[in-house]
Amino acid sequence: MSNAGGRRLSTHGDVERGEPIEVHIDGRMTQAFAGESVAAALMAAGIRAFRTTARTGSPRGLYCGMGVCYDCLVVVDDRPNTRACMTYLKPGMRIQSQAAWGPRENVDTTADGPR
Ligand code: FES
Repeated sequence: MSNAGGRRLSTHGDVERGEPIEVHIDGRMTQAFAGESVAAALMAAGIRAFRTTARTGSPRGLYCGMGVCYDCLVVVDDRPNTRACMTYLKPGMRIQSQAAWGPRENVDTTADGPR
């Protein structure tokens, strides 16, 4: 499992990744690496919209990548409003897209486009 899904950059032997782990993203078992952020796992899984806003339902995702903007909020192990960019993965972690202030229901896990 060199890049776990094909959307990660090749390390070309210059970068060591953590141990391979499995996490659940919107109910799907997903391969990832220890030491990665939740945001990295979502991006590697092809997910760009992590949540939708409470007022207009607009999609939001990784923006600042350093804990400032709060655009990357997701539900992690039933805890909503978790910043994906500031949270390290743990084996078996359950990550859900968020709508407004809670988990997004009825996520179409077969969609290839923006969610
Ligand atoms: S991307 Fe801005 S807080 Fe996470």
